[in-house]
Amino acid sequence: MITINRLNKWYGDFHVLRDIDLEVAKGERIVICGPSGSGKSTLIRCINHLERHQQGDITVGGVHMTNDIKRIEQIRRNVGMVFQHFNLFPHLTVLENCCLSPIWVQKKPRREAEKTAMEYLERVRIANQAQKYPGQLSGGQQQRVAIARALCMHPQVMLFDEPTSALDPEMIKEVLDVMIELAREGMTMLCVTHEMGFAKTVADRVIFMDEGQIVESAPPQELFNNPQSPRTKEFLSQILGH
Ligand SMILES: Nc1ncnc2c1ncn2[C@@H]1O[C@H](COP(=O)(O)OP(=O)(O)OP(=O)(O)O)[C@@H](O)[C@H]1O
Ligand SMILES: [Mg+2]
Repeated sequence: MITINRLNKWYGDFHVLRDIDLEVAKGERIVICGPSGSGKSTLIRCINHLERHQQGDITVGGVHMTNDIKRIEQIRRNVGMVFQHFNLFPHLTVLENCCLSPIWVQKKPRREAEKTAMEYLERVRIANQAQKYPGQLSGGQQQRVAIARALCMHPQVMLFDEPTSALDPEMIKEVLDVMIELAREGMTMLCVTHEMGFAKTVADRVIFMDEGQIVESAPPQELFNNPQSPRTKEFLSQILGH
């Protein structure tokens, strides 16, 4: 589903991603962890061209990424993204947020877009809030709307960038439960998160990044119980120590 070969990216002089190689199979669930500033967000943002890379190749769903807008749009149609701070449009209702791209990008009739949106809102257990504005919802509810909104485009891959790290503890579970369900249904997922319980429950592989590199990649049990690199060991001892 995703192939990344020798990906390198710089912000000015700063070499943020170094020789990243990554293959993600259809249905595979990957958790990415690592210290702040290690390049996790930059890596997943390169996958839907929210960031432009300078060297290497990215292919998503058989489409090779170039700077050609047609290809970028083709890839973005296949890739849903959920951000730490939800990024919902505050002046649109929950339902309107979910219908915007299907109507304007996919040219769906409003009726059909609304029907699909209600189905996904139902699935994330928030259909009863469809007429509210994001500001009237809790953080956990807003994040579930953001997930439903991404799903309305029927993506083949979902990217999550720390989807629970801006949430109060009691709301983290309701968002993780939705993500676990999605994983069980076979969605291909790349998720930047430090929720190690989630990683153990659903991840096929956990990737540890440091200083722009993939330092280690292994199934969760293996990576958590028997990390190979001293950098991974140190990082895990810090986050598991809390
Ligand atoms: N637009 C930008 N311009 C310049 N430098 C940037 C830009 N975005 C990120 N960086 C730098 O690139 C590095 C990697 O950033 P990135 O956001 O990918 O890290 P991260 O692993 O997601 O960190 P965090 O866990 O804090 O979210 C950081 O040193 C950051 O300061
Ligand atoms: Mg980040």
